[in-house]
Amino acid sequence: MASYTTGDSGMTRQSFMASKLSLKNKVTVVTGGSRGIGLDLAESTADLGSDVVLMDIREPQTDLKELATKYKTRFKFYHTDVTEMTSLQASFDRCVNDLGKIDNCITAAGVAMDKPFLDHTWDECRKLLDVNVLGSFFCAQLAARQMKEQQTGGSIVMIASIAAHCAIPAQRVSMYGGTKAAIKLLGQTLGAELAPLNIRVNTVSPGFIATDMSKQFTELQDVFRNVPPLGRIGETGDLAMAVAYFLCSGSSYTTGADLAVTGGLHNGRIEL
Ligand SMILES: NC(=O)c1ccc[n+]([C@@H]2O[C@H](COP(=O)([O-])OP(=O)(O)OC[C@H]3O[C@@H](n4cnc5c(N)ncnc54)[C@H](O)[C@@H]3O)[C@@H](O)[C@H]2O)c1
Repeated sequence: MASYTTGDSGMTRQSFMASKLSLKNKVTVVTGGSRGIGLDLAESTADLGSDVVLMDIREPQTDLKELATKYKTRFKFYHTDVTEMTSLQASFDRCVNDLGKIDNCITAAGVAMDKPFLDHTWDECRKLLDVNVLGSFFCAQLAARQMKEQQTGGSIVMIASIAAHCAIPAQRVSMYGGTKAAIKLLGQTLGAELAPLNIRVNTVSPGFIATDMSKQFTELQDVFRNVPPLGRIGETGDLAMAVAYFLCSGSSYTTGADLAVTGGLHNGRIEL
């Protein structure tokens, strides 16, 4: 049986774990980083020592200079439309030019739509596919190309959803769920394909999380609060450790995995 060891360095157990979790001297790209889940993950990543590049179609909802001072890391924002390859390529080039490398990439840019299946239009579906699937796919590709060139390996975390796991109570998200199922499977296929380059790819599937995205579904707020078995809506901070695990060296033997952070909802509601 394998036993826990701190090695020969004489490090304490605590410092061994802290060193595994550290993102010091790393550069992390976060798409959709201007607000909500992406912004929170940008902060938690910086809290572990990483420089952070936000790529988003909207301006950051916070002062990046204040964040840089607070976490003593570098923060950059590049206006980026993840549905345009030229825009993505320009931002990735700028990132390498400004910060020298890319170690981690979190794809959090996304859009949602709650609408009956029978009423979905082609244009609405195209938008969901462009942002959620192609935007994440090509971000991962640009990040992986850079990691390959650096010969450093790296970690890519793609934000999927509970909608990739099951039909969501009270929501009609057929195409949104389809896009997130694509992301979940992409994590598995890229995890295998990029493993020889030591590039790990994993997905995190949030349940109901309180953000501007979920707030737009005003009539569903009671469902979001009461239906998860843990009895509450998630906060953006509930995702921080899941993503940190996949990014850090402590997960160096983990790829192609999905972690559902849903308050237990992906296993169904438990009636007591
Ligand atoms: N909030 C939830 O309950 C929940 C649950 C499961 C999964 N998710 C997923 O988490 C991710 C973040 O969601 P959120 O709740 O923070 O939403 P949000 O709307 O608050 O943030 C999404 C961000 O993506 C950006 N974005 C949208 N289109 C873009 C484009 N074309 N190019 C660049 N950036 C673009 C937006 O400007 C925004 O900053 C999404 O992928 C979403 O599908 C959210």
